[in-house]
Amino acid sequence: MNERKTRVIAIANQKGGVGKTTTVVNLAAALSLMKKTVLVIDLDPQANATSGLGLQRQPGYSLYPILTGAADIADVIQPTPFENINIIPSELDLAGAEIEIARRGNHLSVVREALDRVLVSGVFDYVLMDCPPSLGILMTSSLAAADAIIVTMQCEYYAMEGLSVITNIIKQLHDSGVNPGLRLEGILMTMYDGRTRLAMDVVNEVRAHFGEIVYETLIPRSVRVSEAPSFGQPVVFYDPSNRGAVAYKAFAKEFAKRFSSVPADTAPAPVAAEPPAPPSNETSTAETSTLP
Ligand SMILES: Nc1ncnc2c1ncn2[C@@H]1O[C@H](COP(=O)(O)OP(=O)(O)O)[C@@H](O)[C@H]1O
Ligand SMILES: [Mg+2]
Repeated sequence: MNERKTRVIAIANQKGGVGKTTTVVNLAAALSLMKKTVLVIDLDPQANATSGLGLQRQPGYSLYPILTGAADIADVIQPTPFENINIIPSELDLAGAEIEIARRGNHLSVVREALDRVLVSGVFDYVLMDCPPSLGILMTSSLAAADAIIVTMQCEYYAMEGLSVITNIIKQLHDSGVNPGLRLEGILMTMYDGRTRLAMDVVNEVRAHFGEIVYETLIPRSVRVSEAPSFGQPVVFYDPSNRGAVAYKAFAKEFAKRFSSVPADTAPAPVAAEPPAPPSNETSTAETSTLP
């Protein structure tokens, strides 16, 4: 059996606004500077990773025609303005793909089967999937195709709220035999503001609970990070010396180093950590999930 070198990582959190897309585009950028080849898959119909990497939405260029069997995956992989970064863009129609895939009944394997054709080519070192902020079929089918999940968390109260949803999905993908090798690879703390006590408290709490799985690198909050997408660029290229850019470059090194210790197709037994109970002053309802 050929050893597969491509690592498939889903950046996920069903909460919106926690830095998933920013992490995908900047991790791709930083890895490309390390001479790694990256395929970004934009799974969010809002297409922020697509525009953040300088592309416009184009009907027909997304995972949609792949999921519905209308096109081959090789036909929708697009170059970006940046060397070593390719993308399968997103389009609004991706939202409609959920219904189509559900109708076809192969929803858990459809992304994986499409991706297999890319993986055997060995062209890419990393496939980074930018998951939508929802728990639909697109998210579960992309998790079914992933080797590993990175969860991004904003350094805010309730950062960990909802993580049980992801750990439950991982468990279900294990238990059902759909993706027994899937692991929670790491937790990246984003939008860290070192001037506030709250941010440090949140990081300490998440570290106390999840330990080493939390990346050492903290991504600071910086205006430059948030303005870069309007120029169609990751901050890593837009303003390389910005502290957000520097942090993403440090994160990419940490990320690649962790992977270098795990052979691609012999992932260790996954550890699905249980998140803590929500704070007692909080009134959220218990969250559960089932695979769609
Ligand atoms: N480190 C950061 N500093 C400042 N703004 C940030 C940072 N990371 C993300 N943002 C901004 O926060 C918003 C949400 O981030 P985004 O990556 O789109 O989250 P998600 O994909 O999880 O919804 C965006 O407007 C983004 O530009
Ligand atoms: Mg996003």
